[in-house]
Amino acid sequence: MNFVGSHILSVSQFEREDVATVFAVADKMEPYAHRRKVTRVLEGAILGNMFFEPSTRTRVSFGCAFNLLGGEVRETTDIKASAIAKGESFYDTARVLSGYSDVIAMRHQLEGSVAEFASASRVPVLNGGDGANEHPSQALLDLYTIQNEIAGQGKDIDGLRIALVGDLKYGRAVHSLCRLIMLFNNIQFTLISSAGLRLPENYVEELRSRGHTVNLSDQLEEGIGQTDIIYLTRTQEERFPSQDEANKYRGLFRLNQAIYTKYCEPNTVIMHPLPRDSRGEASELDNDLNENPNLAIFRQTDNGVLIRMALFALVLDVVDQVDKHGRDVGWYTEKRF
Ligand code: NCD
Repeated sequence: MNFVGSHILSVSQFEREDVATVFAVADKMEPYAHRRKVTRVLEGAILGNMFFEPSTRTRVSFGCAFNLLGGEVRETTDIKASAIAKGESFYDTARVLSGYSDVIAMRHQLEGSVAEFASASRVPVLNGGDGANEHPSQALLDLYTIQNEIAGQGKDIDGLRIALVGDLKYGRAVHSLCRLIMLFNNIQFTLISSAGLRLPENYVEELRSRGHTVNLSDQLEEGIGQTDIIYLTRTQEERFPSQDEANKYRGLFRLNQAIYTKYCEPNTVIMHPLPRDSRGEASELDNDLNENPNLAIFRQTDNGVLIRMALFALVLDVVDQVDKHGRDVGWYTEKRF
């Protein structure tokens, strides 16, 4: 695909070589993301960071990525504080705000909302999550993390064995990740969920029609045995018709160190898009795994900055200028990454 000036709304836009392009640019961002160098390549550019649903890492890392390229960030974080609450349409809001920004990142609770907004925007729009539909930048950072984690074990994405666990029905991170991994060859998907929260049938059919293996299970211990990656998810309670309905599913699949030691291969990588639900009745990913070297959750969040920097650089067409505007930092940086 041609990234320059494009909206990034769905992983369906990508071919395998596009994923490789994003990852190569993300690699190039490493000294800037990890604060050994600074670049001012986007000096003067403005990101409209519009998050109409709760968000910590996606919103902050989009903003941080833009700042690290030298641009400025304007935030709109509350639907009640925007004219949408007065009945303004996405069309009008998009026409207006795209006049104030050079690129927009947006999250909204409705499926298709970001695409609708993008169709009226005068600048590129990056989907930060639209309801239960898609979360393309999350899928890219997840797959980038997977690639980096398994490279050390001499494996690559082709032939990957991945177990996806939890709320596969409403989890947009899972939806986008499945569609992205599907571009590779011979993947073994193990889908572990309650019957009521299975991956929608159209995704399962897509995976199978591309020749991948899909196994369904409702037993965590049975499903996590022979996998390279376990990808856990939170019950997406905000998408359920009622809180009582969500409560039925909370805490059904919990990974802790004892289960990991007993059932997993020694190098299985543990991932989660975060936030993990740390309330006692949920705890899908126990704190006793925090020191497990195969827990990749905070490497995922760090990688989110590299991936989002890469997307901005590609869409705004500055990939080749980043280093020209780069220099070493002058302050003390402790090794944090
Ligand atoms: C995910 C999301 O918003 O879809 N979070 C994130 O962006 N890292 C997953 C979730 O909220 O459970």
